[in-house]
Amino acid sequence: MSATLTFLGIESSCDDTAAAIVRHTPGQPAEILAEAVLGQAALHAGFGGVVPEIAARAHAERLDLCAEDVLGRAGLGLGDLDGVAVTAGPGLIGGVLAGVMFAKGLAATAGLPLVGVNHLAGHALTPRLTDGVNFPYLVLIASGGHCQFVLVEGAERFHRLGGTIDDAPGEAFDKVARHLGLGAGGGPAVEAAARTGDPARFDLPRPLLDRPGCDLSFSGLKTAVLRATETMGGPGAIGPQARADLCAAFQAAVADVLGAKARAALAAAGETAGGVGVFAAAGGVAANGAVRATLGAAAAASGVRFVVPPARLCTDNGAMIAWAGIERFRAGARDGMDLAARPRWPLDDRQAGMLGSGRKGPKA
Ligand code: KG4
Ligand code: ZN
Repeated sequence: MSATLTFLGIESSCDDTAAAIVRHTPGQPAEILAEAVLGQAALHAGFGGVVPEIAARAHAERLDLCAEDVLGRAGLGLGDLDGVAVTAGPGLIGGVLAGVMFAKGLAATAGLPLVGVNHLAGHALTPRLTDGVNFPYLVLIASGGHCQFVLVEGAERFHRLGGTIDDAPGEAFDKVARHLGLGAGGGPAVEAAARTGDPARFDLPRPLLDRPGCDLSFSGLKTAVLRATETMGGPGAIGPQARADLCAAFQAAVADVLGAKARAALAAAGETAGGVGVFAAAGGVAANGAVRATLGAAAAASGVRFVVPPARLCTDNGAMIAWAGIERFRAGARDGMDLAARPRWPLDDRQAGMLGSGRKGPKA
């Protein structure tokens, strides 16, 4: 195994242009030398969602600034790097393409190895970057575009145990926030409103809990919130307390479903891999306090350690891509100038894709 590796990671698969530099010496904790995220929320605010064309253009315009920024703050030049890692999918293809073309140019100019990374692998491997977790472990990736339970057996060995059959939970949080007039604040706005709400006032469904396995569904739950609002005269007619109660009920339902399915996934992981010592969560929804609580309780009930990376490393970032690049590189992976940008790229390609498509396309 080669000694210390320093990688630049590039991420541009959705609405965050991100770069980071990660250094790792075998046997020691990984170090994030510098990280930068240029969000695009303001650019998409008026459109009720991410506009792929606007996202792609903004990535193309700012990737170089982002990379320059992290190199400058780490006090490094291109010659100090051992490789460039880039998200090569899945995601909005214009943005992924902008990142891949930028990384190719950089790698070719500086004579550096290039490693294409699956965005979901970046999320799934983050617990190793932050907490040095050993294989195998179970991870829940729950964000605006993804929701799946993955058994991580190696840097390139992922076994999907289950996932959403329709919407991702973050997508449901975002839609509920917009519907209730909380604007583009998404999950954090719903969580804030829920603090003063009574989760018991509205009886919302817990989809798929009557089914064995760890597949999930959030579309019906989102619709139930919209229906409850309509029966009270629509979003414009309800007061702040009813809004808070709805947010609390919705959040409690999402947390209950994720917690219950986490128990099922932990049981399945026990059968598949002879048990795991760690259950980790990643993705923006893992930043939610109620969700963390039910996931933590599921881990405790199974006697495994619960690991959640800090919020900035749960949401999309460059460090997870640099780290996954280092892991792939150590496993012998090298990509050439023919590296393709892929809108769809299942993490576990031994299984058929799942139903459902969110703002990042099918939930791989
Ligand atoms: O991982 P991420 O940054 O990007 C995607 O890959 O989608 O996750 C963003 C998603 C959004 O849907 C956002 O509303 C949700 O994560 N999110 C939250 C919270 N913070 C972010 N959902 C619930 N509670 C939160 N505190
Ligand atoms: Zn993501």
